[in-house]
Amino acid sequence: MLPSIEWKNSKVYMIDQTLLPFELKHLELDNFRDVATSIKVMNIRGAPAIGVAAAMGMALASIEYKELPKEKFLEKMEEAANIIKSTRPTASNLFWAVNRIWNIVSTYPDHPTIISDLVIEEAKLMAQEDINVNKNIGKHGASLLSNDDVVLTHCNAGSLATVQYGTALAPVRAAIEEGKQIKVIADETRPRLQGARLTAYELQYDKIPVKVISDTSSGLLMYLGLINKVIVGTDRVTSDAVFNKIGTYLVALAAKENNIPFYVAAPTSTLSLNENVRDVTIEQRDSREVSHVLGKLQIVPDGVDCLNYAFDITPFKLVTGIITEDGVFNPKELIKRYK
Ligand code: MRU
Repeated sequence: MLPSIEWKNSKVYMIDQTLLPFELKHLELDNFRDVATSIKVMNIRGAPAIGVAAAMGMALASIEYKELPKEKFLEKMEEAANIIKSTRPTASNLFWAVNRIWNIVSTYPDHPTIISDLVIEEAKLMAQEDINVNKNIGKHGASLLSNDDVVLTHCNAGSLATVQYGTALAPVRAAIEEGKQIKVIADETRPRLQGARLTAYELQYDKIPVKVISDTSSGLLMYLGLINKVIVGTDRVTSDAVFNKIGTYLVALAAKENNIPFYVAAPTSTLSLNENVRDVTIEQRDSREVSHVLGKLQIVPDGVDCLNYAFDITPFKLVTGIITEDGVFNPKELIKRYK
């Protein structure tokens, strides 16, 4: 799979995911404002990919401001950090990544030109780390999958949602690399259709069997015994729940009712265990994403408003296991290990 985002010659290159599956086009960005916009309008999306984009955005800001006197440099970098952090409120990785870069910016005593070099190196390291973390999630998650399993996933927590390899799709990739036959069912994931457009695209690209279903079908498929496991990604894990794409909660309820294991793939950069559900802002996006399919075809009568919560909350009691780069943990074990 192609990397979703790359740093090359002091520029950020990212696949424009709003155009998939119809067109594979890269955006070339040379300033942090454009990176912030690309996160906001979802040219790039998925918690880990957003995190790496944010870090690279900070790297671009450091290049732009590195000739300023130190005090002014710090002021401008803080401004850039705030602009990047204001793009999307729910995914932990965004804040985790900006804070990790800010730590370097605010603590190193050196001249801004040297700090800028350090920031660029850190952003590149974070991109590489993301791939390594996902491969480890894959290795641990593959042990949960048996030959001939059919895995349901929601939204896109694959290669496109990370730098490469994915989180929820990593166990599928790893199990197939181990020689197991695995098939994927992808929820279409209204309203932005990440399942239909992106999960289906990347799995087809990598020749992994996938079928897309409407979001309303997963309960029936579970009832009929056509799904063995559910694996989803996450935007934030608090001390009591998992935040992920809207619709995840209903999938978890149906899985519980049908005794199907419900797993969440979560890099530790997504853990926010000192928070609980009340601390988290669930992003609400433009109602037009619901009233118009792909921003074009209007399906709701004129004058009727829509609600568009982008994420929902799945309480820990519905979660069988959380797969991190270190292993598979039930929620209690996760808290014990990382809090
Ligand atoms: O709105 P999106 O497309 O950014 O939402 C993405 C998801 O909900 C993913 O499941 C989550 O970020 C995990 S990605 C590895």
